[in-house]
Amino acid sequence: MTTPRSRGRSRTRVGPLAGIAGDAARLHIDALLDDPGTGIIVCCGSGGVGKTTTSAALALRAAERGRRVVVLTIDPARRLAQSMGIESLDNTPRPVAKVKKAKGGSLDAMMLDMKRTFDEVVEGGASPEKAQQILENPFYIALSSSFAGTQEYMAMEKLGQIHRQAQRDGSYDLIVVDTPPSRSALDFLDAPERLSSFLDGRFIRLLIAPARGPARLMTAGLGVITGALSKVLGAQFLRDMQTFVAALDTLFGGFRARAEKTFALLQADGTAFVVVAAPEPDALREAAYFVERLGEDRMPLAGLVVNRASPAPQGTLSADEAMAAAARLRRKTAGPKTAASAARTAGLLRLHADRTRLVEREARLRRRFTAAHPEVPTTVVPALSTDVHDLAGLRRIGELLAEG
Ligand SMILES: Nc1ncnc2c1ncn2[C@@H]1O[C@H](COP(=O)(O)OP(=O)(O)OP(=O)(O)O)[C@@H](O)[C@H]1O
Ligand SMILES: [Mg+2]
Repeated sequence: MTTPRSRGRSRTRVGPLAGIAGDAARLHIDALLDDPGTGIIVCCGSGGVGKTTTSAALALRAAERGRRVVVLTIDPARRLAQSMGIESLDNTPRPVAKVKKAKGGSLDAMMLDMKRTFDEVVEGGASPEKAQQILENPFYIALSSSFAGTQEYMAMEKLGQIHRQAQRDGSYDLIVVDTPPSRSALDFLDAPERLSSFLDGRFIRLLIAPARGPARLMTAGLGVITGALSKVLGAQFLRDMQTFVAALDTLFGGFRARAEKTFALLQADGTAFVVVAAPEPDALREAAYFVERLGEDRMPLAGLVVNRASPAPQGTLSADEAMAAAARLRRKTAGPKTAASAARTAGLLRLHADRTRLVEREARLRRRFTAAHPEVPTTVVPALSTDVHDLAGLRRIGELLAEG
């Protein structure tokens, strides 16, 4: 599924702090959304950069431009979930009310229920009796609700399910996928591999050997290991794990195969990755690694969204001019009354200078990203003055995404 990578080498080469300045091509959001060939959009990025907001905004805009859209969100903020009518977790897409349907589009939304999705996988692949056995297994319960990577794996699983359903009944022509909150954007691609390696791995195979067949398969050495493990973990735990893994293994022919299928879907032509980043060195560096990784995994990248950019201050006064004017004011004023008003004005001038410098710094970071990755089209979304928690806010973000 994954190829050996030379991350060490690429780390020195990419990132917003490498290369020289250059201008990014614009990411044309409306062209992407309107293209009937776009079937899946995946929004990735490091923690807290605006993946969920961007996914929901893209989905709403696409729907109001005439597409039949479903958006799969992960852990949306409560108010946003409420405004989309998806605060209850039933793990099926529901129509979002108040979407403008003049152009014939529609929007369904859902919030991923990781455990429920895992349960559905089990129920869909086993006899009711066998499924029940697995669902009640304590090891399964722990794994399905808390194993690192399960959320990423289940997001992919759900995407696969929705995609199959859409192909069968034509219910949607665009699926927008949010990705789980993780420190690194790469987790989305790495976690399923980690989980399937764990489940398919040699360690587990050794453990399940006794559950699978004749005791003669077990070497004396392995017996010692298993014995030691049952002392540490408890014999019951080990038995639970053995039965659980053996059951899953026979049911699904290996988790790796499943993950590989979804990977193939992510590599398909109709898929478009949108990488979201904050205009900060860490987030942009992370975005740069992610862009490289998509290339290595042959996954189609649509472009970069730089979200929550500082809005440019009004007027043409530069930061240096504003600071110089503030200093002049401080020197020249006489008398307490004028001094107070001059101090206020000087304060405003310094604020203007700070904001101008911030905007310049962000633009510099963006240009450095572009210099290292000139092929990545980009759109910039300014920070709104409030959180985005309703359809009006999402619509506004959609407009800003399209304006670039
Ligand atoms: N352009 C913007 N202007 C103002 N607020 C924004 C903007 N984009 C996102 N936000 C706000 O920032 C917060 C984080 O956004 P969001 O939940 O979309 O990030 P995320 O990448 O999904 O986070 P996580 O990694 O935790 O899933 C939310 O409160 C959201 O309303
Ligand atoms: Mg999120």
